Amino acid sequence: MKKMLVTGASGFLGRRIVDFYTGTYEVFAPAHEEMDITEADDTVSYFRKYQPDFAVHCAAMSDVGMCEKKPEQSWNINVTGSINIAKAAKEINGKCILCSSDQVYFAGLESEENAGVSQAHREDEELCPGNLYGREKLKAEQECLKVNPDCVLLRLSWMYDVKTEGQGEHGDFFRTLLSQMAGAEIIKYPVYDRRGITDVNEVVKNLEKTFELPGGVYNFGSPNEKNTYETVRQAFAYAGLDPGRLGKNEEAFCRNPRNLTMCQEKINKKGIYFLSTAEGIARNLTRALENLQIVSVSYASASS
Ligand SMILES: NC(=O)c1ccc[n+]([C@@H]2O[C@H](COP(=O)([O-])OP(=O)(O)OC[C@H]3O[C@@H](n4cnc5c(N)ncnc54)[C@H](OP(=O)(O)O)[C@@H]3O)[C@@H](O)[C@H]2O)c1
Repeated sequence: MKKMLVTGASGFLGRRIVDFYTGTYEVFAPAHEEMDITEADDTVSYFRKYQPDFAVHCAAMSDVGMCEKKPEQSWNINVTGSINIAKAAKEINGKCILCSSDQVYFAGLESEENAGVSQAHREDEELCPGNLYGREKLKAEQECLKVNPDCVLLRLSWMYDVKTEGQGEHGDFFRTLLSQMAGAEIIKYPVYDRRGITDVNEVVKNLEKTFELPGGVYNFGSPNEKNTYETVRQAFAYAGLDPGRLGKNEEAFCRNPRNLTMCQEKINKKGIYFLSTAEGIARNLTRALENLQIVSVSYASASS
């Protein structure tokens, strides 16, 4: 059995990777205290001891706001920590898969021509991220590829799951939507924001296909051409739900429309596909409706 090391295994993505691949791989999931990724010596000794064939690096400071509040600590975790993992994997000849983010495409104050109408982003664009987290992720990509050109860096979009798996797990787009559906208020989504939003289970299942990819950066998530309001409307239509309580938020991002959507051509050429954001949300809404009585009571299907 091949060996897989997963960092950040107590986190949202890492936990699901460990659960899914345990049994197919011999999985090592060191806790933060067991292997602090900011300590180069700790990290390399762990790799030397367990000799993983694949290292999937999910540990991070993933909260964009927290990175701004704790710039030194976040740089240390998101940049230095990633470099430590890339170097340690190279030393033992393991394949290294690192999590980056669609936030590298967040341009801050976008130009008018870019605002709200620009195309899905491609991996080879010149980038200048408008927030610290995005800059950290971009720097980590560049430095990891310098020290270990065989590294695969996955630009992940915003991910969600239907269920909460761990205590204290951060919330997500889908579970917030579900709880709002159970209430009675208008549910508003931005019209000036566009980004892919991806079922984390698709990311987990597709992960194994990245083990054979040549080193480089890959957009890795659901395609989405629409703004968030239109996306959710589309998902409701696919799921046969009445969109009556969905509303437009025309304030968020209105001064600075955001486009984080990613072009999937590069991964598609490698045989990796994701459902569109609206299809993924619709599929999960349908499943949730089957399981959650509260949702079906307060959110009648369009046909009924
Ligand atoms: N979630 C998303 O929607 C999303 C979107 C785009 C990209 N990403 C990226 O995907 C990856 C996984 O995200 P996530 O949402 O699963 O993150 P998460 O839930 O915030 O989990 C982060 C993990 O990192 C660990 N960690 C933090 N500092 C560490 C250190 N110094 N040494 C060892 N472990 C450390 C944490 O352990 P402790 O709690 O014990 O410190 C935790 O297990 C991250 O790189 C993130 O930036 C996530």
